[in-house]
Amino acid sequence: RAADIPVITIDGPTASGKGTLSASVAAGLGWHTLDSGSLYRVTALAARRAGVSADDEPGLAATARAMQLRFEGVRVLLAGEDVSDQLRDEAVGMMASRISAWPAVRAALYDLQCGFRQLPGLVADGRDMGTVIFPDAGLKIFLTATAAARAERRLNQLIAKGISASLDDLRADLEARDERDRTRETAPLRPAEDALRLDNSQLGIEASVQQVVAWWNARQPFDAP
Ligand code: DC
Repeated sequence: RAADIPVITIDGPTASGKGTLSASVAAGLGWHTLDSGSLYRVTALAARRAGVSADDEPGLAATARAMQLRFEGVRVLLAGEDVSDQLRDEAVGMMASRISAWPAVRAALYDLQCGFRQLPGLVADGRDMGTVIFPDAGLKIFLTATAAARAERRLNQLIAKGISASLDDLRADLEARDERDRTRETAPLRPAEDALRLDNSQLGIEASVQQVVAWWNARQPFDAP
């Protein structure tokens, strides 16, 4: 039964380091990962390619249901083409944020997300992993960092890729995206009631991973089926 397969959820705002943390925790435990943001991103990309507008809720939902997706490790293939790098574009992220506000789009991606719950376990990151998709998760983390810290990380990622950007622009973009993700009606970004908060503004990735694994080990005996 799916309910017997352990899940750790990591929700939080843009560029809070959810992806890195979730991949590292999953690697440590030998579990699967779900990067749910990539599903909204690939839907945005597929819609853009098909000429479906970000305002067309039924068209977007139909696009999400019809996508031919394959996951190979961290790579995402859309109709056989590796689109992983394109999914990281700021423009795709911004369109993902816009289309993710539509309830029909979220509904269209629901079963796909639940299907990632496979033995021996899953670490799922996004905005509503603990509140909507896996409300019975054994451990829920709400990961935050100051907007300044997040903008700086995003800038360093871009510099590493040889792309230049302004810190102020990046910060304004991520604050706009957070605002939309937090204030939408369906599945807004918010901590689950039983989520543990982790602020990693001053915390390295190793220390963050250790904290999450320590929390998991502390509660696992009580939650084991
Ligand atoms: O985590 P990310 O930046 O890759 O996500 C891109 C957008 O997708 C984000 O701005 C909002 C949306 N999203 C969502 O609505 N629910 C999720 N579980 C994950 C992402």
